[in-house]
Amino acid sequence: MAVHKLDRSEFGDPANAGNLMTIEEAHSLLNEWVPNERLRLHMKQVAAVMKAWAIKKENADEQIALKWELAGLLHDADWEKYPDDHCRIIIEELERRNIDPEVIHCIASHGPRYFGVEPNNKMDKMIYVFDELSGLIHAYSLMRPEGYAGMEVKGVKKRLKEKSFAANVSRDEINDAFSRIEHQPDEIIQFIIEHQRDVS
Ligand SMILES: [Fe+2]
Repeated sequence: MAVHKLDRSEFGDPANAGNLMTIEEAHSLLNEWVPNERLRLHMKQVAAVMKAWAIKKENADEQIALKWELAGLLHDADWEKYPDDHCRIIIEELERRNIDPEVIHCIASHGPRYFGVEPNNKMDKMIYVFDELSGLIHAYSLMRPEGYAGMEVKGVKKRLKEKSFAANVSRDEINDAFSRIEHQPDEIIQFIIEHQRDVS
């Protein structure tokens, strides 16, 4: 990735806490900014996994679940049009729209090695662990004649060990992300399979 570090650690205005956009608004931003259908699907998958995790594992209410979902849905929104300025452009857009700083920080910290922003809270840490793995699992579904049907955690782990498979998916990043949470890889992989399989 030819991205630049963001060189700051504060995002958004604390006064905007609780300001979100609707999921419809986020989808129309996505449709406008991301012509590539496969990339849009990636973001929808990460959004579905984030939302499900918030509700099922973090006891999130509707508002908090929407935060997790929005961060997932928009985390790569500027990647296609502004690869060299990925995620600065979407961050600035969300700041202009007065969006909740936690959503913006979550997006800013989804690749600490690239953007130089450390994941702080659970939402930050989970998007970091879901992002690359979600991509690898989807790539795996595309090479399986049966797609997601019957996909098992052990098959995913095998692909993870195969450096040549989805070689652009950084194993270092995935390991780094796992080291920051207390959940086991099996739980995370199973959760991703279950919650992104039906996203279209
Ligand atoms: Fe991503």
